[in-house]
Amino acid sequence: MTANGIKSGVIAVVGSAMMDLTAYADVLPEPGQTLAGQLFTTGFGGKGANQAVMAAHCGAEVHFIGKIGIDVFGKAIEENFAKVGIHAKYLDRSETPTGIAHIWVDGNGENRIIIIPGANHEIEVVKAVEAIESIKDLAVVVAQCEIKQEVTLAAFKAAKSRGCTTILNPAPFQEISPELMAVTDWIIPNETEFRELHGELPTSDEVLKNFRSRKNSIVTLGRQGAVYISPDTQLTKVEAPKVTAVDTTGAGDAFVGTFAYALASGKDPVSAMSMGVKVASLSVTRKGAQSSYPDQAEIATLS
Ligand code: RIB
Repeated sequence: MTANGIKSGVIAVVGSAMMDLTAYADVLPEPGQTLAGQLFTTGFGGKGANQAVMAAHCGAEVHFIGKIGIDVFGKAIEENFAKVGIHAKYLDRSETPTGIAHIWVDGNGENRIIIIPGANHEIEVVKAVEAIESIKDLAVVVAQCEIKQEVTLAAFKAAKSRGCTTILNPAPFQEISPELMAVTDWIIPNETEFRELHGELPTSDEVLKNFRSRKNSIVTLGRQGAVYISPDTQLTKVEAPKVTAVDTTGAGDAFVGTFAYALASGKDPVSAMSMGVKVASLSVTRKGAQSSYPDQAEIATLS
């Protein structure tokens, strides 16, 4: 039984898995400056893995398609997937080290992240397609931009040929090819990614309505919640509950993973968005990416 008491559709995430190495400091150093911080943590991250773990916490059957190194970080990620119940048959190994993210979090919970993709950039097109074609009852395929776009394109094409719904989180931002846009059903940028895609920040309804994607789009707006832009440019906004943020790392991924689960479970898009906003808002009140995500029992109390 899932977080909303109904059977979820099967989800595949084609994406990145990283180890997050995070330093917390009230004030971040300027160039040439050294400062003492308060805390250092090692945690599970990577936008793809975060979204997969969040969807699994909600109760979805999740398959992860990705690549890790044959090193201690890779081993730990593999064990974590097993613990969370993620199907990892299509998680390959590489001689290249597992991807890592160096993260700084300031006293307002805001982060700065440098990723070293490592093995994530070695996912093979042929393996991704084979996985998408083989997963039984697959309903939704989710991807981000921490792996090579050619892999996402091939996976989404395979997904569309078998009638799946595709969700693209264009993070971190990179130009999205027209071919990939053509096989994307949902695009979910945050404010910064919206600006990169559209040319200006989503500061007014007029800007939102003119969003170039002409897809089902959701723009996540941080503490302001999220807005759904339908292909015929109707806007539906969901406000976020007021919380005190200690670390916003992985909040967008919590939204996408929850949204994918809810859509795969047959929820309407606005209810799915509303659930995503609640879960993401809760995640920012705790430190880390996956370590901040609520479990199924806690998710059930949010609806
Ligand atoms: O979205 C947050 C994630 O971005 C972190 O977990 C880090 O791994 C980077 O990929």
